[in-house]
Amino acid sequence: MALLEVERAGKYYNDTRALHDVSFKVKKGEFVSVIGRSGAGKSTLLRCINRMIDLTSGTVVFDGYDMHRLPKGELRHARKRIGMIFQHYNLVNRQTVLENVLHGRLGYKNDIQGILGMYSEDEKRQAVGIIDKLGLSDEMYRRCDALSGGQKQRVGIARALVQDPRLILCDEPIASLDPGSAKVIMDHLRGISRDLGISVLVNLHQVDVAVKYSDRVIGVRGGELVFDGEPERLKKRTVYEIYGTEDGELVGD
Ligand SMILES: Nc1ncnc2c1ncn2[C@@H]1O[C@H](COP(=O)(O)OP(=O)(O)OP(=O)(O)O)[C@@H](O)[C@H]1O
Ligand SMILES: [Mg+2]
Repeated sequence: MALLEVERAGKYYNDTRALHDVSFKVKKGEFVSVIGRSGAGKSTLLRCINRMIDLTSGTVVFDGYDMHRLPKGELRHARKRIGMIFQHYNLVNRQTVLENVLHGRLGYKNDIQGILGMYSEDEKRQAVGIIDKLGLSDEMYRRCDALSGGQKQRVGIARALVQDPRLILCDEPIASLDPGSAKVIMDHLRGISRDLGISVLVNLHQVDVAVKYSDRVIGVRGGELVFDGEPERLKKRTVYEIYGTEDGELVGD
């Protein structure tokens, strides 16, 4: 059974059609990239999965949860198992790396525990272990605004991992990074899916990166799914269909 099933998803923002009849599945541990030009609907698709925004039609079933029909309490449960990684990191700049990573545990807390920052010894040990694996031990007590972009994104990954997620959604995780830092981030994400069995769904602007790292690539154009297959099947003609570029070059938007 698939971990994630998106079925006939549709989304309108007032009169703007952002998604239309999008269906696909993601298996446990699978690494799937979503490519498409600017405005194609990639971010909308990701945000509908954890219900940061509501679908206009269709369903999202994650780990057995019918995400858009769940009452609030259960939605909270489901969301605990979905990590999010953003282009601009979304860290609390004046807090340390360790504090930011521990925020990944907030979904497991009641409000008071969360406000008081009450984390168990186990949670702290787990956070320290993950920070170590991401090569950030020396940065543990540094404020996040003192870090490089690549380091910040590794904090973002660590924060997602302490959630003990089954799925990690990444919205252009490398768009603000230099090629070297981008490779480190992509290698970590690939390792997470392969070694930890966590599914990764990542929006990317670089077709070559999607081809190199993914088990499967999904192409969206004008809110519609126009390709879903293994990267080897992504021929020049298909890239042309997705991006609508004149020469079908392997380029972004
Ligand atoms: N909050 C919003 N209100 C109204 N329209 C929106 C909103 N967010 C997105 N849209 C529109 O929905 C469509 C899809 O946008 P979306 O941000 O999902 O595209 P994207 O593929 O992520 O683009 P990019 O590569 O630039 O990030 C676009 O036409 C966009 O203008
Ligand atoms: Mg986007």
